[in-house]
Amino acid sequence: MSLSVVSRSTVGRRPSATQPRASAWVLAGVVLTAACGCSGARTKPTEEIVEIETIERLPAEEPAAAAAATATGQQPASTDTKPIASQPATPATPATPVVPVAPVAPAAAPIAEEKVTLGDPTLTAGIPGSGKVTVEQVETWLGDPRNHAVLNPLLPLGLAQGAAQISGLDKNPLTRAKVELGRQLYFDTRLSADSTVSCASCHDPASGYTAHTPTGVGIGGQKGGRNSPVSFNRILSAAQFWDGRADSLEAQAVGPIANPIEMGFTHEGVVERLRGIPAYRRQFDKVFGELTIDRIGQAIAAFERVLVTAPSPYDVGEEWRRLQSLDADDLADDPELARRHSAAKVAAAAQPLSESAARGREIFFGTKGNCSACHVGANLADEKFHNIGIGMDRPEPDPGRFAVSKDTKDTGAFKTPTVRNVALTGPYMHDGSIATLEEVVEWYDKGGHANPFLSEKVKPLKLSAEEKADLVAFMQACTGPTPTVETGRLPE
Ligand code: HEC
Ligand code: HEC
Repeated sequence: MSLSVVSRSTVGRRPSATQPRASAWVLAGVVLTAACGCSGARTKPTEEIVEIETIERLPAEEPAAAAAATATGQQPASTDTKPIASQPATPATPATPVVPVAPVAPAAAPIAEEKVTLGDPTLTAGIPGSGKVTVEQVETWLGDPRNHAVLNPLLPLGLAQGAAQISGLDKNPLTRAKVELGRQLYFDTRLSADSTVSCASCHDPASGYTAHTPTGVGIGGQKGGRNSPVSFNRILSAAQFWDGRADSLEAQAVGPIANPIEMGFTHEGVVERLRGIPAYRRQFDKVFGELTIDRIGQAIAAFERVLVTAPSPYDVGEEWRRLQSLDADDLADDPELARRHSAAKVAAAAQPLSESAARGREIFFGTKGNCSACHVGANLADEKFHNIGIGMDRPEPDPGRFAVSKDTKDTGAFKTPTVRNVALTGPYMHDGSIATLEEVVEWYDKGGHANPFLSEKVKPLKLSAEEKADLVAFMQACTGPTPTVETGRLPE
């Protein structure tokens, strides 16, 4: 087993009251990369589980910073990833974006920073009021400086360990005004040529941010060739699409608008149409200083970045596993840790993992199922591309990642999708060819579908009927709520 302890000072945390006092177990940054019983640390000796244990004792309002401090065992999604949490949060240094967003009008300049935990429903509640959004309401909204403060987003429990994966905020900082503009665009069918299709048509919050059709159905009822992936937890991914061909959420967002079988419009057409809608024109002016296709992409991306999954029974259980072995001595001189400990205890009792799900967890992360060879990290997805054999029995299989990388070994390889909320998002796989989680497990149990490019991580598993059911139960326990989002309030 390898045990590495990362000192806080290496990530530039400010010295303050949050600095741990001398204590027996300063375990911030303990990364357990293999299972064994040799640990004097507080882990289960019998686990055959590869996972990242994060034990830290920071105030609850700083989970992202804590996760950044402990995420050194994880691969950042890209080299230009700039985890916002690693910036010292000294009040004297407001987190002004390194790359300014725009030749902004002075009024739109960031005036302050606001820390907000993603999933906070006020981010997605829409401009106050009811019915269509009026120009007057927009003026009032835009006149409030708080809506232009740069948001310093913290990730909820579960996702927090992925703070180092956060990507895109340096080039496109979040503000409430920008997120709200993106929300309107996301639900507005006027982004499609005949005003019938919005992003939500294929990534509907009411359908788990996907569509329950094998492949996307766009303008004029046309069917695409691939399944609609989920549009939440995107803040943890740089490359988008099943084949990763868009290198940012911004680049992805403008694609569907001009895709003839999705929204069937043109970039010029959509810009012109939105310029003709005063409430949109006003918001783009104030937020960006201009209305262009790139700004449309930035606003939509900002909205997507606040769509995250809240803790699932799995996450609550992991938190309790990390903390349960602390004893009274450990907690005595640390009120914050004691608070976290009791909160975790209550939460784990309120949303317990069933025995079946707990067994499924061992299979998923252990050698028996080996699922975490790819479904790993905060979002249970490695952000890499693998061929598990889906669609490879067709006469002309989808080339997948090969079309982007031109590397033969990427033939039929697709980006690992998240297992978070997967119970809500069927049908499954890039072609929507598998209807249920039970059938997904059968697919893996038989070792996928043999083909020259099959990942060597996919092998027949020989699971018993009970073990298969346990895996399904575990995946169901990875279901956590997504934020309440206003879908109806759009500009008049
Ligand atoms: C007609 C259905 C349809 C519409 C409309 C649509 N999408 Fe998609 N979306 C898809 C499909 C299908 C894919 C996967 C395509 C691929 O990988 O080649 C996808 C991929 C994505 C992804 C990548 C997710 C990932 O994990 O890589 C995001 C994000 C996304 N869409 C957001 C949007 C936004 C924002 C809009 C509106 C501007 C939109 N989509 C409109 C069907 C649709
Ligand atoms: C070699 C890497 C790898 C391993 C190992 C692996 N997966 Fe996957 N998983 C993927 C990829 C890649 C896809 C998408 C494949 C495609 O569409 O062609 C996927 C798709 C899925 C899906 C469908 C998700 C969706 O939204 O469509 C589920 C569920 C799933 N895997 C669960 C599991 C389970 C359970 C295991 C362990 C038994 C497992 N995976 C092992 C890489 C892997």
